[in-house]
Amino acid sequence: MLSQARIESILPIGDLGRQVVYLDTVGSTNDLAKSLGEGSYGNGTLVVADEQTQGRGRGERGWLTPAGTALALSVLLRPGLGAGANALALNGLGAIAAVDAVEAFGGNARIKWPNDVLLAGRKAAGVLAEVSWAEDQVEYAVIGIGVNVQRGSAPPDDQVLFPATSLEEALGKPVDRLELLRAIVAQLDRWQGALGKPGLVEAWQERLAYLGEQILLEQQGEAVQGELVGLAGDGRLRLRLAGGQEIVTGQDFVHLRPVDSRLE
Ligand code: BTN
Repeated sequence: MLSQARIESILPIGDLGRQVVYLDTVGSTNDLAKSLGEGSYGNGTLVVADEQTQGRGRGERGWLTPAGTALALSVLLRPGLGAGANALALNGLGAIAAVDAVEAFGGNARIKWPNDVLLAGRKAAGVLAEVSWAEDQVEYAVIGIGVNVQRGSAPPDDQVLFPATSLEEALGKPVDRLELLRAIVAQLDRWQGALGKPGLVEAWQERLAYLGEQILLEQQGEAVQGELVGLAGDGRLRLRLAGGQEIVTGQDFVHLRPVDSRLE
């Protein structure tokens, strides 16, 4: 079980989790963290909920967090974040942290660029980073991470664009949500210093799914196919088209999938 006291007992790690807001149920932990960002809550404030009723994913999609089965957390980050604190890089940071946390549980996780965490070719976790700018300065940023932990938390194939799984299904063993939360916060703390530095993009690229493979990037009816070559220095995706020409695409391409989409 998650609770305010149990979460506080394992934190903070560095600055992360100095303040903790736990709720049994909330609309969206990202929305709550953003409203705390508008107020006086400090750098590293952690919002966790057992259930989300209006969880949000990228591209206006929803995110399911059924009670008792999943992990939904959002971290509030304050300035001092540095030049690399744009939403794309923060999505990368969240995805790297989630992958490394899952690996500590024995899973070989990969990142479906920019920020989906795959286990055995299926999506087990997602990241939603949001930045509030005041002119050209970051006022605050929120990194939200949702993990399907128990089997009941992964939506069925006919309800999602990309097939989902849960950690327990993919790993074949029980996963304690508090331990997973601790591992994710520890990895966020470990990697946040790499924001704005080449090491973040290198780590992101090393963890990518489909490197060297043919993928399709789709955006509102428009699709581009090419070989996933790697990442540009700012975390955008490099794609080699059939004629050999290389293009760099931003995260406005909302849906990525392998051309050969057989599951592992
Ligand atoms: C995606 O796959 O598109 C991103 C999903 C992100 C879900 C997490 S759950 C915690 C946080 N609160 C939200 O409303 N969304 C993120």
